[in-house]
Amino acid sequence: MAKILLAGGAGYIGSHTAVELLHAGYEVAVIDNFMNSSPEAIRRVEQITGKHVALYEADVRDREAVAAVFRAEKIDAVIHFAGLKAVGESVKKPLMYYRNNIDTTLTLLEVMEEFGVKNVIFSSSATVYGEENAVPYIETMKRGVCSNPYGWTKAMMEQIFEDAAKADPALSVILLRYFNPIGAHESGMIGEDPLGIPNNLMPYVTQVAVGKRECLTIFGNDYPTKDGTCMRDYIHVVDLAKGHVKAVDYIMHQHCVEVFNLGTGTPYSVTEIVETFERVNQVKVNHVYGARRDGDLAEFYANADKAERLLGWHTEKTLDDMCRDSWNWQRQNPNGFQAAE
Ligand code: NAD
Ligand code: UFG
Repeated sequence: MAKILLAGGAGYIGSHTAVELLHAGYEVAVIDNFMNSSPEAIRRVEQITGKHVALYEADVRDREAVAAVFRAEKIDAVIHFAGLKAVGESVKKPLMYYRNNIDTTLTLLEVMEEFGVKNVIFSSSATVYGEENAVPYIETMKRGVCSNPYGWTKAMMEQIFEDAAKADPALSVILLRYFNPIGAHESGMIGEDPLGIPNNLMPYVTQVAVGKRECLTIFGNDYPTKDGTCMRDYIHVVDLAKGHVKAVDYIMHQHCVEVFNLGTGTPYSVTEIVETFERVNQVKVNHVYGARRDGDLAEFYANADKAERLLGWHTEKTLDDMCRDSWNWQRQNPNGFQAAE
């Protein structure tokens, strides 16, 4: 069976993708420097699946270290998850974001070229649609103007992959634009484990529910949406992971340069997330309404038809599932992977 290299595979989305790839019969190798993750996540992936993951601790910017992995493993395709992803931090430390995100991409592409590996799938983001495209976002739209350096790194990396594919007609590229991944594996053994104060909504909600933080601030309730709070296309991370398996199946069978949205197509408001979380889990989430957060758009969601049409992928989990599984993970691991390290 084909072997897939997950760069940044110990992180939130990478670890869930590793589980689904192993379930589907693929072999998995991971390179991660654990700057935002723990090797414990990969041990748990092995426990869940009963299968082995070849784990390499290395910086994906380190060309020699990456080449050593390609020499040791016969890689058929690469999925590039390795990157920094905190929007607010990227505004304060743009050079760190450009350096890490762009360098990892260039190094991977260079080493792939050196070893003749021709299939790559990239973790992009709905953020590349920018501020001016109308919702729902569809892949035929042009990339827009991003509101922060993190978003620009994604837009630039998409361009780099497209240019590399133009220059090498044998190179196949799939750009996956994720919407808002939440939830966790149903076992509760792996999940999102942010360092410090969470930037994203769901980990903040679960940390308030478990008593680690006092109160959630809902950023703005005066948006032009049904209840005044922002609307997003939340997608269960296991559905997202299965989207990667479909993308691997696809790229292994034909040459392609394609972009796919991975979302559900249905937006929910922040208030709906909090209310659903409380109802499904029978826990209280203390919250207050505060000022808008800079750079937030009122609403965005996917047109996910292309992924259904070409990859045969669609989401299966409900918002109730997302809220239940996020809580199950947080409750079983109040300190994330830390306690197990
Ligand atoms: P994550 O931080 O949990 O995972 C990223 C992994 O990459 C971590 O394990 C980190 O240690 C590793 N990493 C970072 N830089 C590295 C380097 N130079 N060398 C080796 N390893 C490195 O994030 P995630 O939520 O799993 O996201 C995965 C990818 O998907 C990222 O590229 C992110 O930008 C993208 N994405 C995430 C979201 C989201 O909401 N989670 C949305 C859209 C896109
Ligand atoms: N929110 C709160 N309180 C919080 C955190 C978030 O009210 O403490 C709200 C935000 O204002 C937003 C919604 O919850 O309305 C979702 O916020 P997230 O930070 O979880 O997600 P974003 O939609 O802002 O960002 C996500 C990804 C980014 C990506 C961006 C655009 O995390 O990687 O979508 O694609 F760039």
